[in-house]
Amino acid sequence: MSEAVKQEIRNLLKEHNAVLLAHNYMRDEVQEIADITGDSLGLSIEAAKTSADVIVFCGVHFMAESAAILSPQKKVLLPRPDAGCPMADMVTAEELEALKARYPGVPVVTYVNSSANVKACSDICCTSANAIKVVRSLKEERLIFVPDRNLGRWVAQFVPEKEFIFWEGFCPTHERMTVEAVRQKKAEHPDALFICHPESAPEVTALADHACSTSGMYDYCRTSPATKFIIGTEAGILYKLRVENPGKEFILASPALFCPNMKLTSLEDVLISLQTLSPVISVPEDIRIRAKSALDRMLAVPRD
Ligand code: 13P
Ligand code: SF4
Repeated sequence: MSEAVKQEIRNLLKEHNAVLLAHNYMRDEVQEIADITGDSLGLSIEAAKTSADVIVFCGVHFMAESAAILSPQKKVLLPRPDAGCPMADMVTAEELEALKARYPGVPVVTYVNSSANVKACSDICCTSANAIKVVRSLKEERLIFVPDRNLGRWVAQFVPEKEFIFWEGFCPTHERMTVEAVRQKKAEHPDALFICHPESAPEVTALADHACSTSGMYDYCRTSPATKFIIGTEAGILYKLRVENPGKEFILASPALFCPNMKLTSLEDVLISLQTLSPVISVPEDIRIRAKSALDRMLAVPRD
């Protein structure tokens, strides 16, 4: 059954000149069939440069919106339009405008986990993979950072010369990973390194041997001489970590690390999306132009 579904997906991808992108948190079987897997930054870059006519985005709503912002001539499909991000919903454009009015002239750095409307009110976007470089690229000493308070506070440690105005948004999935759960895993596996995502609560990140984006975790675990890792991010990351590192052991830091939104998309959803060429994600042109300038400014920040 599943093999037939996979074959039909491959046929339809070819027929429609479509590319299948999947975030690193997607279900294993979705990652397995994807043309490209990656983190938010990597997928934005791929969405911008692909020559496909159709992008099937297996991720959450803000990611498909980013693809639609960067590639307006392409059809962007989100197989599960109900896959949202609670953190992205924690700030609206109206709320951000009200904050900006209190701090005139202070630039806004917006994590890509945000709506197109919020990006449109921002000066520059960032992802967890480039946030430190993005903040350093600003000439101003003060900045507004939305919506993730945890990522913002983590970045601030590396850029002490800047003053941050934080928004109190957070990722409910990462915040469910408690200090107690991590301490317990560390006690059970004293020989393991603890790697976590900077969306985690500061007291959890403080316990980490290394904090980084999801793509950073692949690089770190592949190149590290260590062979055992406690992983503090959404469980979907384990799939590729295990495929790429058969000799190494990966332990999830907490059973709470499941993002319900990231787990919605099934192979059947991908198939129906390709059969019906829907649901299409689009962004009104005036918003798109403004949001694109914040994303373009981020993409122009040298990566290394
Ligand atoms: P990255 O893949 O950019 O690290 O993003 C994490 C995340 O929570 C996406 O929703
Ligand atoms: Fe949003 Fe967190 Fe889920 Fe990522 S893992 S989509 S930030 S709720």
